[in-house]
Amino acid sequence: MKKSIKTFLKIAGKDEVSKSSNPAIVRASTIYFDTMQEMRKHQRKIASGKKIKYWDYGRQGSQTTIHLQNILKELEQAHYVFLTQTGFGAVALAIMSICRPGDEIVISDCVYRPTQKLTSQLLAEFNIKAIWYNPNSFEDLKNKVTKKTKLIYVENPGSNTFEFQDLGKITSFAKRKNIYTAIDNTWGTAYYLKPIKIGFDLSITSATKYYSGHSDVMAGTLAVSKKVYKKVWWYNQVSGYRLSADDAYLIIRGLRTLDLRLEKHQENTKIIIKWLDKQKKIIKILYPYKTSSTRYKLWKKYYSGASGLLGIIIKSRSKASVYKFVNSLEFFGIGYSWGGYSSLAVYNDPVEMGSRHFFKLEKNQHLVRVHIGLEDPNDLIQDLKRSLRYVK
Ligand SMILES: Cc1ncc(COP(=O)(O)O)c(C=O)c1O
Repeated sequence: MKKSIKTFLKIAGKDEVSKSSNPAIVRASTIYFDTMQEMRKHQRKIASGKKIKYWDYGRQGSQTTIHLQNILKELEQAHYVFLTQTGFGAVALAIMSICRPGDEIVISDCVYRPTQKLTSQLLAEFNIKAIWYNPNSFEDLKNKVTKKTKLIYVENPGSNTFEFQDLGKITSFAKRKNIYTAIDNTWGTAYYLKPIKIGFDLSITSATKYYSGHSDVMAGTLAVSKKVYKKVWWYNQVSGYRLSADDAYLIIRGLRTLDLRLEKHQENTKIIIKWLDKQKKIIKILYPYKTSSTRYKLWKKYYSGASGLLGIIIKSRSKASVYKFVNSLEFFGIGYSWGGYSSLAVYNDPVEMGSRHFFKLEKNQHLVRVHIGLEDPNDLIQDLKRSLRYVK
């Protein structure tokens, strides 16, 4: 019967052998075959890309990781989904599968800092050039593309600064030019945005965040189009990325409630933004909520919802007082890895941002990244209200 993704997330991944509602955690290195002929036949089946229930060696995964891949394939509407041990592993897998010496990668100037380092520092050692474009200008992106461009890499919205781009325009342009496209979709997840359907070849999600949802596991997913599947498969084979069965199980458990959690993160965030918007000390909120803004329009064009991560720009002559604001929050932890059930806040010192060519805070402006969790939003507002008093 036809079913929505909400229902699918509840019923997928049942264990056929134990008849239990969740898959077994199968830890395996050796996988036995009755005969050599059977082993070879299964290896041919794996190589042909046909649907399988088990692998021929534990480095590929086990029944547990296959269950997770099948769930994500449906959620992402992708040709295939690779699993990695961290979200950043999925970033590296995507880029290293595609780029080769002599190539250029045109990359948004708003990506996660380790992605900046990988592309500007490591790739340079292999004679692969990273060229940065302004995420607020499609014209700039077009101007940066040359005959050597192999990959356009987007993070949407931008890390810490939350720029939204016209994703469909980018993929159509790239297709015309025969350039591969990748996106880091961790903020929206495939629940709110389906990048492969928009035309991206590679879609990265740090499953550590909303897919897990419980701040107790690290994992990454890389959904791919048919066009790049073989390239990524090959690179994955020679580089040894994998996710453990235990971690895959925890991600499956998190995915059961992905829809409910994301909708609640969104609801709480809207309530809190309504309050934040009235605070004089906060001069800008980096989130798609003002219907007249470009940020909102570009979000609305592609996303079916918004998550709980945003930036607030505070005006103050005293950085110490903004630190005090963050330090005084009782229900917002100071820490990384948003996407769990709890609220977090981090002052964005330049180290968080990495090197940016197209973004600069003005004098006396301070950026604080906030994750709105699943707590009672009234408690969060009281906490913010009490702590904002410290901003001088
Ligand atoms: C946008 C984005 N992509 C990728 C990652 C990397 O994920 P992980 O921490 O699971 O390696 C992060 C982590 O914060 C992130 O914010």
